[in-house]
Amino acid sequence: MKIAIDGPAGAGKSTIARQVAKKLGYTYLDTGAMYRALTYTAIQRDISPSNSSALASVVSQMDLQITSDEETGGNRIFVDGEDITEAIRKPVVSGNVSEVSSHAEVRKVIVDLQKRMAEQGQVVMDGRDIGTVVMPDADWKFFLTASVSERARRRQLELSKNGHEVDLKELERQIQDRDLMDSTRAVSPLRKAEDAIHIDTTHMTIDEVVKLVLNYVQGGKSSVQSTNNHPQRHN
Ligand code: DC
Repeated sequence: MKIAIDGPAGAGKSTIARQVAKKLGYTYLDTGAMYRALTYTAIQRDISPSNSSALASVVSQMDLQITSDEETGGNRIFVDGEDITEAIRKPVVSGNVSEVSSHAEVRKVIVDLQKRMAEQGQVVMDGRDIGTVVMPDADWKFFLTASVSERARRRQLELSKNGHEVDLKELERQIQDRDLMDSTRAVSPLRKAEDAIHIDTTHMTIDEVVKLVLNYVQGGKSSVQSTNNHPQRHN
């Protein structure tokens, strides 16, 4: 069984995907972390986020390792043996990752890697193009959204936990910029797969969203419908 969870930044994808994977005993893969790892490495090596050929060469040569973190249920990310799990969340990485991930040459290498990981099955992947490009054959596809202000509020909370204080308005602006770049890029833009289930998480708790997703998956509904869902209908 393969589960795809897509959506814009801050919609709750990684938290939900992690918990769903844990409940099902599946492997969780944070695909955004792979683009972040490349962005971090490029910054370290003074490579511009617009230099697609240099980025493509780095991504095909770097030693990227992704492991499961038992404690958090998330992934730990290593490049050339260095643990960069926390470093890839820094604002400087978030500010450049959309541009880095927009290049076709870069996406080809990373998407191929993700497809190979998907072949093993029993996987929950979150990202932007999982239901459309990486696992178009996924058994379940979810598309999570939330209002810009709610997503900025969540991101602020997350950053604050990691010791970064960022102004809310600034975060709203960054999220809008990132949404625009992610959804208008030429290669596999952020877009809901036609057969994905849309969940607006703006007024939902994490537990409610996890329950809703598990209701679908464990309820065994075979055909994936394109709908806008509310938890009350499915509890
Ligand atoms: O989910 P995230 O914020 O960590 O993702 C970081 C960036 O990576 C995001 O701006 C777009 C890009 N990304 C992508 O293009 N495709 C994916 N499957 C996952 C992330």
